[in-house]
Amino acid sequence: MKVIPFFPYSDLFTRDEDALSKVMLDVCRRGAYILQKECREFDAHLAEYMGVKHAFGVANGTDAIIIGLKAVGIGPGDEVILPSHTYIATAASVHLVGATPVLAECGADHMLDAADVEHRITSRTKAIMPVQINGRTCDMDTLQAVADKHGLMIIEDAAQGLGSKFKGRSAGTFGKFGTISFYPAKLLGCFGDGGAIVTNDDEIAERIALLKDHGRNKDGRVVAWGYNSRLDNMQAAILNYKLKNFDNDIARRRAIAARYNAGLEGIKELALPPGPSDDLIHYDVYQNYEIEADRRNDLRAYLDENGIKTIIQWAGTPVHQFKDLGFAVELPKTDKFFTRCMMLPMNVVISDGEVDYIIGKIHDFYKRQL
Ligand SMILES: Cc1ncc(COP(=O)(O)O)c(C=O)c1O
Repeated sequence: MKVIPFFPYSDLFTRDEDALSKVMLDVCRRGAYILQKECREFDAHLAEYMGVKHAFGVANGTDAIIIGLKAVGIGPGDEVILPSHTYIATAASVHLVGATPVLAECGADHMLDAADVEHRITSRTKAIMPVQINGRTCDMDTLQAVADKHGLMIIEDAAQGLGSKFKGRSAGTFGKFGTISFYPAKLLGCFGDGGAIVTNDDEIAERIALLKDHGRNKDGRVVAWGYNSRLDNMQAAILNYKLKNFDNDIARRRAIAARYNAGLEGIKELALPPGPSDDLIHYDVYQNYEIEADRRNDLRAYLDENGIKTIIQWAGTPVHQFKDLGFAVELPKTDKFFTRCMMLPMNVVISDGEVDYIIGKIHDFYKRQL
């Protein structure tokens, strides 16, 4: 039986093997491993792509959040409100700078719910951190209005959002800073770990530049305590190459999402994500194609028997359910969502035929259950 993997990691390289081999050999032959021209070029290309003043490659998307939080001065005594529907890295970064992550519900669109955020604001709240999940940007107007009303800053975890837009503006560029992950399975994936921080603020940019490289300034003089969190030059070279084709990759993801939506609409047991052309306010780029399904576990088992690999995001656990970390908050909407959500294969190498096969098997499953 043919197996359709959830994410075919080796295809990241093999679909473009000749060109990528050249890129990597060139870096090796020049011995250009740390902070070389590819890093500078990538920072410039990424900033231009996102329409933001400054971009900095760092070691991974988690470091990006930690460094961003430090750069804006969030620390002990501060609270940051973020969705429980996120990867642990978002909350852990807040904890690791000494602040408190305050978890909020997701709304019907699975994104941070502004009304729930507002209930959780206290005198200690410093920032609201929307997470641009699954390649969709939150309704930033509503979140910004809440932030403005209470004098809070917006900071964005756009690890999963590169290329997505809200009203024409890129995810990651709304707040004091935004962060991206280049983990291999991300929209723009490198061949290991990688991340970036972007900002339009010159002072924050200056602090990020110091924090990510041992506190060294342009002359190499250490003027602050800093981390070693540099994007590898090899990864920067790979990302420079991949960024050139990124818009084609996004177009392919949007086409796959449209195909899934057209094929699955009408199955009343499913709730589908908005299709790519349904909503001019949101430009969605489908990092993931996440559905809600009745009898979700049985559906996954049936698809698995038929060679179709699916996953439940964050291994099925929203952050507030990690009681060992001290969370006591009840978030019933997020709990319910996690009993129903699952992700179908979504990547740039899956074929239309494979998508149609998956659609067919989902129809078969619900017909068999009648
Ligand atoms: C929403 C979110 N935040 C943060 C991260 C952390 O990124 P990284 O794995 O590059 O550290 C990820 C990626 O795994 C993520 O999906």
